[in-house]
Amino acid sequence: MSSWISHLPCEVKYKKVVGHGLNAQELAKNPRLDYFFVKDLNNDQELEMESSTFNVVLCTVSVQYLQQPEKVFAEVFRVLNLGGVFIVRISNRLFYEKAISAWREGTGYV
Ligand SMILES: C[S@@+](CC[C@H](N)C(=O)[O-])C[C@H]1O[C@@H](n2cnc3c(N)ncnc32)[C@H](O)[C@@H]1O
Repeated sequence: MSSWISHLPCEVKYKKVVGHGLNAQELAKNPRLDYFFVKDLNNDQELEMESSTFNVVLCTVSVQYLQQPEKVFAEVFRVLNLGGVFIVRISNRLFYEKAISAWREGTGYV
């Protein structure tokens, strides 16, 4: 769930960085991506990646937009190598009109 900004540290070199998002023009401007694909994960949760091919999957300040997070997470599990890591980064900032109701109506303590 990426865009034109990368939060990956500049000094670290990765073998391959794959990005996904909703906007191809934004993704094309992201200097850290070796490859990207566009997909609305609320319509289709399949990640068009081979199984067991990633060491790390990052989801930064975006999980609140997923209507079926459990299906997306199952796909993340599928594409991760054994022992791979899934990092979900959450922000306290909320775009009320975009977030799913579970985020709008819940609290940080439930
Ligand atoms: C707040 S931005 C965060 C972008 C990036 N992760 C970052 O930290 O700079 C939310 C991102 O979620 C993605 N997004 C929102 N709804 C989505 C959906 N239904 N399917 C796939 N991506 C979605 C958009 O592409 C957008 O770039």
